[in-house]
Parts: sequence; C-alpha cells; structure tokens
Amino acid sequence: MHEYYAELGTEVWEEEVVPQQITNNIYLANTYAKLIIAQMQDYISAHGKPIDAPFYILEIGAGHGRLSFYLLENLRQAFEVFEWPKRWLKFIMTDISLKSLETWKTHHALKPFIDEGWLDIAVYNANRDSEINLVISGQKIKTDSINKPLFVICNYIFDTLIQDAFQVINHRLHEVGLVIKNETQIEKGDLKEYFKDAQYEFVKRPIDINYYPESPVLNKILQAYEVECENAAFLMPLGAFQCIENLRKFTQQPVIFLVSDKGVTDKSLFDPDEDPDISFHGSVSMTVNFDALRRYTELCGGNCLLMGDKGADFQVANFIFNADYKISNTTYAFANSLSCFSPQDLFDICYIDDEPITNFKSLESIVNILNLAEWDPNIFYDYHEQIIEKLENNDDITVSVEHSILNGLERAWRFFFKLEKSQDLAFAIGATLYNMGFNERAIEFYNYSLEFFGKDKDTYFNLTLAYQALENYTKAHEMINESLKISPKDKAMAELQSELEV
Ligand SMILES: C[S@@+](CC[C@H](N)C(=O)[O-])C[C@H]1O[C@@H](n2cnc3c(N)ncnc32)[C@H](O)[C@@H]1O
Repeated sequence: MHEYYAELGTEVWEEEVVPQQITNNIYLANTYAKLIIAQMQDYISAHGKPIDAPFYILEIGAGHGRLSFYLLENLRQAFEVFEWPKRWLKFIMTDISLKSLETWKTHHALKPFIDEGWLDIAVYNANRDSEINLVISGQKIKTDSINKPLFVICNYIFDTLIQDAFQVINHRLHEVGLVIKNETQIEKGDLKEYFKDAQYEFVKRPIDINYYPESPVLNKILQAYEVECENAAFLMPLGAFQCIENLRKFTQQPVIFLVSDKGVTDKSLFDPDEDPDISFHGSVSMTVNFDALRRYTELCGGNCLLMGDKGADFQVANFIFNADYKISNTTYAFANSLSCFSPQDLFDICYIDDEPITNFKSLESIVNILNLAEWDPNIFYDYHEQIIEKLENNDDITVSVEHSILNGLERAWRFFFKLEKSQDLAFAIGATLYNMGFNERAIEFYNYSLEFFGKDKDTYFNLTLAYQALENYTKAHEMINESLKISPKDKAMAELQSELEV
C-alpha cells in the first residue's frame, strides 16, 4: 500500500482509479468546518482566546487534497464571519507520498493558502513517524510541541492501515490469519498483478486473551467482545490505534479526530461467521470497526460522537481525547449535522449504481437536488448534461430557477479543484451559461477551460458559437480556425466555418 500510493501520488485520483467522492464533497467539508468551529468555541469559552499559539488541523493521508481545500475555503469564510484572526489556525496537509506533496505545492486551489501562511505540508507516516517536518515553514512538530487543541482529519485512511482479524466462536476468541497460498509463485514487482494473482485463505486458531501484551486497553476490548458476543467476526483497526497514539504524543492538549470511513459502529452489526472482506480498487482497503474505536476512546477517558444512523455503511465520527472543558457546542453541532442525514444519503439520493438519476420531470427538480448537494462541483458536473438537455428542449425556465442556477454555478466554481482529467468543470459551466443565453460569461469559462485543461477542439467550437451569438465574427473565425487546426477533418466544424463565411 505504501509503495502503491508513494509511487503513484495523485495520479490514482486523476485517472479515477481510487474512489474519493464520498470523503471529498462540500457536504462533508461543511460538516467538518461546523465541528471545528464548535470545538474552538468550546475551548474559547473555557480557556479564552488562543492568542499565543494557533489551533492545528492536521490531515493524515490527504491524498489529492480536495477535502483540505473545501475545508480551508469554508473556514476562511467562517473566520471572516466570526472576525477571528487567521493566525489562530494552521492547517497541515500530510501524506506518505512525496509525489503528492509536489503536486500540492503548485496546485491552483492550494497555493493561495500556502502563500498566505495558512497551509503547510509534510510527508508523514501515521504509523511510524514521531516528528513532522513542515516543508514550507521549516517548523518541526515533536513530542509535546503543540500547546493548543489539535484537530486530526482521517478520511479513508483507517481502512487503508493495518488491521487484525478475529472471530468469536461460541464465546471463544480466535485469531484469523491470512495465508497467501501461492506466495512463492507470484511476481512481487507489479502490485496490480500481485493483488490479482494472490490466492488467499483465512486460518483460525484459538487465542489467549492477553493477545496484545503491550496494550491492556486493546486486550480489554477483545475480552469485552468475547463476553458480549456469542459468534462474531470483526477487525481490530491496529493501524488506526497506532495513528491515534502517535498523534496524541504531539500535545498534552485535546486531540480531536474527525474520521470518515466505511465502517461498522456496533457489535450487533458484526457478521456471526464471515471471513474478512478485502476490497480491491487499485489499492486495497478493509472496513473500519468504529465500535472498537469508540471503546478505545472511552477506555482512554475520551468522548466519542457517532452518527445517528448506526447502520450506514459510511460513517463519520468524532473522537475527542483530553478535553478538560465541556464540549456542548461540538455535541450540538454533531447531532445537528449527523443525527439522521449523512454524506452516504446524499450520494444515494443523487446516484443509482454510481450513475446520476435521469428521470427528472423538470429543470427545477434537478436544481432542487443540486441545491441539496450545495452545488458540489462533482455532483453538478455529473448532472450538467441533463441541465443542458432540458435547456435545449426549452424546458420552462422561471426567473427563480435561472437565479438558482446562476448562484449554483458561481458556487460550484468557487470550489473548483482540478483533479480528474476527464472532468472539465469550466467547460460544463460555460456550456450551461451559453444555453441560458449568457454568452459573455460562457466565453469567460471556456477560456478557463483552455487555461486549466489545455487546447481542445470542442472548447474552440463552443467559443465560436458564443462569439457568433454575440455577432463578433472576427473572434468567431479565429476560434473555428483554432478548432480546425486540432481537428482538420471534423465535418461539423467545417460546416460552421462555411456558415461564418457567408
Ligand atoms: C484511500 S486514500 C484517501 C485519500 C483522501 N484522504 C480521501 O479521502 O480521498 C489513502 C491515503 O492515505 C495515504 N497513506 C497510506 N498509508 C499511510 C500511512 N501509513 N500514513 C499516512 N498516510 C498514509 C495514502 O498515500 C493515500 O493518500
């Protein structure tokens, strides 16, 4: 896994190999922002304003960085509203992949935050490193070096780290070991091939309850499962526990984990007798046992906030260690955001089998769904063709729907984060504006498309149409010529060129 991510960097998301939408959306970023602000308010009511040192937000395994950007953008707005000085906060994006760091440094959405000193970056292995060396400021984070509460964001990372598998059979605890049957015959060089070719089986053997000699807390969790469950298969997120322990060493102050992952939250949801499920999606991942994380946090004297819908496959949780103050604002914000609805619900509403829903009766219904999704750029992108189709078919567009779309497009663009090679958001916004008759604005976005996604025959073709609609024939000619340079044999372009010559 280390090799896979370190080698490929952000490429795995640019090519859409590893899934990311559910942990990287406006809805989740807004929820995190609310929880961070609420926790800061809780701290300030007890200890006063953080004049001497900032709160830190550390993102572990930030990957491509989209969530970090959404969150920073949201927090920027919150800080303006609360009139809090920026020096109260420092955001640090980390990953094991140096290659990803190189991408972040120059990324159009992240660079402004780096330049203004809000964002720093570091290579950090959550299971191994005892220091964090910040690349931009040169600062070193070491044991006890942070003296304000530390926020830690762990999205789709605990499912990536090491896990131990167990099964309780008739109230007797068993270790579940994984054996690769054809280990000696498979090539180790290419990871993809390795995952594909590996034939494995699980082997169970009864174990002593003192399984983790160095961790009485983990043994207590195992003992509890043995007593409470007659038959249950479960995982212990060992890498997650290590990560929590490593990070807690950086400060004596509260450490607040915001975690989103696929997971189970209650022992009643453990399968009675199932082998561990390993998902293959470029890399590999396994479900996270949030029930064990909750028990761990509580055994360490911490607080744990879990989603109201315990059965949801995708969970968002808040684990809080060392808070010596009341966390009423945080608890309220969590309940208010996650007692019923969650990112999973939003995606289940917007997509069926990973495809956007198609049977909308009106443009307004699509706008309603996008309003619910807060015009998340990815969701808008997936729906833009349907919007354009409705506009082309002269679906009634009322003044209020037009306003909603214009507002929405502005919002989607504010959160533009270039990642997927195939998702040209600027082009999608330009095409929507053109179909609404806003030709000058459309041209602006087609130009952004050229800037961010390079020269493209369709972008020049659409620019031609927009200039033609504005009766700017000089520019229209220029654009169709550019388009034909890229695709000299294209019939539609040749026709448009002849039309312009008449
Ligand atoms: C599934 S991706 C999640 C990326 C991003 N957080 C998201 O939600 O889309 C896992 C990320 O964790 C990083 N990672 C893997 N092992 C790690 C470790 N031991 N310490 C820190 N990061 C790690 C990988 O490089 C990768 O960026």
